[in-house]
Amino acid sequence: MFFRFLFKPREPEFVLEGDIRLRHLGPRDAAIFRDHLHELHYVDFRDRFNGLVSDAWLETYIARSLDNAICIGAFLGDHLLAVAELHTGGSLGEHEAESAFSVVSDWRRKGLGTLLIRSLLKCATENDISTLIVETGPQNQAMKALARKFGAKMQFEGDRSVGRINVAEGLRLAGRRRAFAPLPAAMPVPVELPAGGLPAH
Ligand SMILES: CC(C)(COP(=O)(O)OP(=O)(O)OC[C@H]1O[C@@H](n2cnc3c(N)ncnc32)[C@H](O)[C@@H]1OP(=O)(O)O)[C@@H](O)C(=O)NCCC(=O)NCCS
Repeated sequence: MFFRFLFKPREPEFVLEGDIRLRHLGPRDAAIFRDHLHELHYVDFRDRFNGLVSDAWLETYIARSLDNAICIGAFLGDHLLAVAELHTGGSLGEHEAESAFSVVSDWRRKGLGTLLIRSLLKCATENDISTLIVETGPQNQAMKALARKFGAKMQFEGDRSVGRINVAEGLRLAGRRRAFAPLPAAMPVPVELPAGGLPAH
């Protein structure tokens, strides 16, 4: 099984798209990530996880994602509105990653999915990932439309709709659509300082 350590930026990069702020999520964000997923309406939750899942399964999923994957959150104030995830390893190839997205139901179709996929593509290229895989239910028109915007051709694979985004091409398309705005990068996970602060040198 292939395992890759993902590079999560440590230097602060401030991102403001209107009032929306992006930052990387880490293990300390488990509670807000859980709240965010519970905020999805029934159909959106089902689309996100391809069905319903138990609370115990969800807890394990959240912990694993925040530990191992790159997770980027979009916030309005303290409210986590949307999350994009970049997962590697398992049966994926060395330069492949699988993506997942969730936008709270009242904030759909306002461009948050687009904002996050652009940020995810940037993270992918920084991690030497050339293919971003999008997998969803065939009924999920929103996810298929989002993936197609970035060059994916969605095709049936079994009972799923699967698309592959070429990361370089996706970034090119992102740049073409937003000629005057910088690509969003997410702020890093807040670093926990030792009690008494950092040692002086
Ligand atoms: C899929 C999802 C992430 C899209 O996020 P979003 O913030 O609504 O996406 P955007 O507003 O950036 O829209 C992206 C494109 O898709 C199109 N789109 C969005 N919803 C659509 C829908 N229901 N039907 C058709 N097209 C749709 C938009 O028009 C836009 O295209 P445009 O820029 O050419 O106008 C969001 O709907 C979601 O979280 N759904 C529930 C969870 C889920 O299904 N996750 C995916 C599986 S991991």
